[in-house]
Amino acid sequence: MITTPRASASDLLDWYDRHARDLPWRVAPADRARGVVTDPYRVWLSEIMLQQTTVATVKAYFAKFTRLWPTVGALAAAPREDVLAEWAGLGYYARARNLHACAEAVVRDHDGIFPNDEKALRELPGVGPYTAAAIAAIAFDRPAAVMDGNVERVMARIFAVETELPDAKPELRELTAQMTPETRPGDYAQAVMDLGATICTPTSPACGICPWREPCAARAKGIADQLPRKKPKKTKPVRMGHAWVAMDGEGHVLTTTRPDKGLLGGMLAVPTSEWSDDPDPVPPFPADWREVGEVRHTFTHFHLRLVVHLATLDRLPGPSRALPQAAAAMPTVFAKVLKLVTPAP
Ligand code: ADE
Repeated sequence: MITTPRASASDLLDWYDRHARDLPWRVAPADRARGVVTDPYRVWLSEIMLQQTTVATVKAYFAKFTRLWPTVGALAAAPREDVLAEWAGLGYYARARNLHACAEAVVRDHDGIFPNDEKALRELPGVGPYTAAAIAAIAFDRPAAVMDGNVERVMARIFAVETELPDAKPELRELTAQMTPETRPGDYAQAVMDLGATICTPTSPACGICPWREPCAARAKGIADQLPRKKPKKTKPVRMGHAWVAMDGEGHVLTTTRPDKGLLGGMLAVPTSEWSDDPDPVPPFPADWREVGEVRHTFTHFHLRLVVHLATLDRLPGPSRALPQAAAAMPTVFAKVLKLVTPAP
């Protein structure tokens, strides 16, 4: 039997002190040690943005949001439609609706100050167990067990957990909690995530330079790159739909706001049919519609194919926006639709 030494949080913290990523929402470990305080607003905002989205994409959005709304009070006071328009392109739009509702709740129920314990944090709109733990740890240095996909992978490997995901989650959560130290839990949480993002990567982990290579049971067994094991994913169904772009002579397009409930709720859009197996192409109003192409987009639970129709009108029968600003304020699927009807410069 192969035995490995226990992984120690302090070995990982030593590595983090030298290799922490420089991220705009992060207080560097040396600064934290000097007593520089972490702003819970920036931690919360970044954690909501980082769910399902890469660090590279989030950086620009984080910069824009904190420039427009430097405090939770400023964000709460902003019109919701402005917040949704700035979120456009980041995806998973329930996050944006909850973001604004959460800012309002912090102002209304907590005098504009984020609560500092996991239970109270979890009661805020859009703040689930992961985000509550991340804010408690990173902003308030509480020993909360922070487990995202990166942390799951690191724990599965260090302890050679061969149970398939998602069944392995309770076991991995228990290991995450056991490993979380009382000293510097906020830096530790960020260190595990950085390790997963930069060294203990999904397909070709750089075990040779890993600060936890000695205690890693998966490495000892030669199966690091196979873990965590996952149940096969269901294949996604394909849905069809039609999108209708009505444009005037100045390049303004007719816009609509999607119903609050449902996919892309509250977001600015162009009119579309239902998205189903075989939707009827019923235009929003009669006009000289021409089919101009097809857009494909993948959502969490299905692939979508939208047939795009264009009509040019003297007067648009409703609210409108100029291109290309219209596209910038809409979810990516509609930006793709508008790209199709935008003449190349
Ligand atoms: N991914 C999500 N949140 C993170 C954080 N705070 N540090 C590093 N990676 C992250």
